[in-house]
Amino acid sequence: MADELDKDVIAKAYARWAPIYDLVFGAVFDRGRKASIAAAERIGGRILEVGVGTGLSLPDYSWTNRLIGVDLSAPMLRKAKARVVEHRLTHVDGLAVMDAQRLGFQDAAFDVVVAQYVITAVPDPEATLDEFARVIKPGGEIILVNHLGAEQGLRAVFEKWFAQLARRLGWRPEFRWERIAQWAARHGGVRVVERRPMPPLGHFSLIRFARLGRAASDDAAARAAQ
Ligand SMILES: C[S@@+](CC[C@H](N)C(=O)[O-])C[C@H]1O[C@@H](n2cnc3c(N)ncnc32)[C@H](O)[C@@H]1O
Repeated sequence: MADELDKDVIAKAYARWAPIYDLVFGAVFDRGRKASIAAAERIGGRILEVGVGTGLSLPDYSWTNRLIGVDLSAPMLRKAKARVVEHRLTHVDGLAVMDAQRLGFQDAAFDVVVAQYVITAVPDPEATLDEFARVIKPGGEIILVNHLGAEQGLRAVFEKWFAQLARRLGWRPEFRWERIAQWAARHGGVRVVERRPMPPLGHFSLIRFARLGRAASDDAAARAAQ
């Protein structure tokens, strides 16, 4: 698909971003990170942060949670590991290089999966969301915060124009809500709980999915098949 991102390109892009990432994207994405952490902590327990990057969010989680962070980029993760040591983040149980599309965890291993500014940076967002839903316990939540592409107007035109360059920088600016909504409807085992605009400029969204139990998933699948 012309739309797709290449994993090697992404890894190279974030190896380049790693030394300057906090300076460029630290403050600007802070409100979204904090909002997603607040949402995750309403559930609490075992939290998986996917695409944890340089670990900017890690000091903001309450010490009562147990955290694991994974990321495709070793250079980004090295920064996260240094942060854990520097701030003595004893609530972080582990950080590992891992592809979000093939999570090395058992089914229902976590209470919450958080992915901040990640879902439009992975090669296959639908496979990634499938993995998120697989590793969540029934009653748990998937919490995303992300830029979403405009449906129409000047911003949509700009995002389409910018898309090719953005691929090389490691994300898809034109990625729309519709694609996530279609995934949720097809999956059947999740329910959209919230979609809330986020700064900067409200071009970002906080999205929460609840993981349904087996019976509710079967009902949803039956309804989708009708
Ligand atoms: C825009 S950064 C966000 C980093 C961090 N979550 C934050 O809030 O600053 C996107 C992150 O997703 C990671 N990433 C991209 N594709 C990935 C994949 N397939 N599996 C795991 N991480 C991935 C990148 O390496 C990068 O660290």
